[in-house]
Amino acid sequence: MARLEQRSSIVTDAASITGIVHAAMENTENPRLKEILNALVKHAHAFLHEVKLTDDEFEQGLDFIRQVGLTCTDSHNEVVLLADVLGLSTLVKVLNNSAHEERTGGALLGPFYRAGSPHYENGDCIVQSTTSGSPLFVSGQVLDTNREPIRNARVDVWQASPVGLYENQDPQQSEMNLRGHFFTDARGAFDFRSVRPAGYPVPTHGPVGDLLRLQQRHPYRPAHLHFVVVAEGYSTLISQIFADDAEYLESDVVFGVTRDLVGKFERREAGSGPHPAAQEPYYTLECSFVLGEGVSTYPTPPIK
Ligand code: BEZ
Ligand code: FE
Repeated sequence: MARLEQRSSIVTDAASITGIVHAAMENTENPRLKEILNALVKHAHAFLHEVKLTDDEFEQGLDFIRQVGLTCTDSHNEVVLLADVLGLSTLVKVLNNSAHEERTGGALLGPFYRAGSPHYENGDCIVQSTTSGSPLFVSGQVLDTNREPIRNARVDVWQASPVGLYENQDPQQSEMNLRGHFFTDARGAFDFRSVRPAGYPVPTHGPVGDLLRLQQRHPYRPAHLHFVVVAEGYSTLISQIFADDAEYLESDVVFGVTRDLVGKFERREAGSGPHPAAQEPYYTLECSFVLGEGVSTYPTPPIK
């Protein structure tokens, strides 16, 4: 490939560097990539001017990023976690939601989404190994922005157990426990049985945990269920529903809670309510998802 002409990169002073770097990147062919990288350099350089980073601090920062990478494994993604605790993941979601207020709001994917969850029929239970906790019956509909049902939408769900662990973090749970996917019926409806999830601390064994401790922040998320809703001809929705009575609802460590994603977890006595056969007190949750037209995609799983 022929090299394109480049202006001199000889630095004269600190103020000259940003322009020199922008000039070096001038021939980037993809216009969107060029826009993003130009803005990244502009803001990163402005940040360095503002905080006047010392050489030691710069090295510490680079080593922190290196540690973040080294902490990643097939079953743990520290990079996603870092983006989450800095509010970056939620900011991207909320910025992208704000143009589409008629749709259900998105929420961050988080580091525990896995591909290949089991397929269940509506009404099935996603509990695969003994997982004691209050029964939870979830029902909902997938709708378009005219409130018409979307049939055959794929609803993927995953959640932590009643002790606050995802199956991939917990040797007591079987593979794919509390994960599954369903397809909506002709009314756009889906429903399943589960157990009430608990809130939990995000993983703190790595550099992100060190950061939270330095910032004197607690590591907890309020109890929630994750959803990915995919339907052909519609933009994929990645979202979460939070329990209205959850501890930490007002102080989620990853800033994932928006008012519209708080769901009513209604407690019912055994023998009453919509599931009178239940032998113990249980909860019901109704959650509907409104999708906008667009291209459906599947998120890239952060772990295997
Ligand atoms: C989660 O909800 O699965 C999650 C999100 C961000 C960080 C850790 C966990
Ligand atoms: Fe979660």
